[in-house]
Amino acid sequence: MKVLVIGAGNMGLTYAEGMAKSSLLNHRNLMIFDKSAEVITTLSKIDHFDVYDDIEECLPKADIVFIAVKPYHCDSLFEEIKPLVNDQQIFVSLMAGVTIQKIQEGLDVKKVVRSMPNLPAQVGKGVTSFTEAKEVSRVELLMVRNLLDTTGASIHVETENFIDASTGISGSGPAYVFYFMNSMLEAALKMGFSKNDSKVLVSQTFEGAVKLFNESDLSPSTWMERVASKGGTTRAALDSMDDNNVEELIKDAAYAAFDRAVELGKE
Ligand SMILES: NC(=O)c1ccc[n+]([C@@H]2O[C@H](COP(=O)([O-])OP(=O)(O)OC[C@H]3O[C@@H](n4cnc5c(N)ncnc54)[C@H](OP(=O)(O)O)[C@@H]3O)[C@@H](O)[C@H]2O)c1
Repeated sequence: MKVLVIGAGNMGLTYAEGMAKSSLLNHRNLMIFDKSAEVITTLSKIDHFDVYDDIEECLPKADIVFIAVKPYHCDSLFEEIKPLVNDQQIFVSLMAGVTIQKIQEGLDVKKVVRSMPNLPAQVGKGVTSFTEAKEVSRVELLMVRNLLDTTGASIHVETENFIDASTGISGSGPAYVFYFMNSMLEAALKMGFSKNDSKVLVSQTFEGAVKLFNESDLSPSTWMERVASKGGTTRAALDSMDDNNVEELIKDAAYAAFDRAVELGKE
């Protein structure tokens, strides 16, 4: 099995590195292509995969092709590579908002998997949701899933609507966590902690809470009740959040990302 990644940016490189580090692929079977000469020069110094600056040389050899360019580059990419593809190749899109139908029509192929990754894939802690065109077989889908899992975990979803929905939760989600972290960091600095101490206080709090959550069957609300006692400090903070409707505002934000993903798919 030969895999090609098109687009060596944040995501393309992350998936290429994930696959290169796994035992699934011999690194001679992993190819990466980018149109930027500068990127090619930098990547050529890394021995994890074969780097190409000519799409005609690599695309015809690939069984599975990851597409990791920005959504607004997809039309020009499709035009460029359409004469080089064949209908046995499987195309795995990482592009937000680009539908399976658009990829099938743009490339005149059938076997398409659409996925939604997220940034923690860079540290092997990503979560990718994915769904497929009916022409992708179970075995092919399993191969793709194994490749996606080299950057963390994955969930299979039945329809593309769930890909857009997962954009609102996991795709954009790391930014919501950073938003929360940023607010807590600013509060810590305002209280007089040094930058370094603020960072330790906030990052350990997040890491510790996530670990507690992952290592138990308890819901976040139960954990909140465990921290908060009546009339205590945590209750004061949670009451302040409830008074300001923070829970609803976070849900609205997730829906705003979901709606935008649907909108982008129509553009
Ligand atoms: N970053 C995230 O957190 C995230 C999360 C979920 C989904 N995604 C999806 O992942 C995809 C990639 O995002 P990214 O952040 O990795 O983008 P990026 O860093 O801009 O990387 C895209 C790379 O593809 C290159 N490229 C553009 N057109 C090309 C072509 N025709 N042939 C070959 N290479 C081409 C770009 O070169 P130039 O820079 O020269 O244009 C760039 O090096 C996007 O579709 C995005 O929706 C990203």
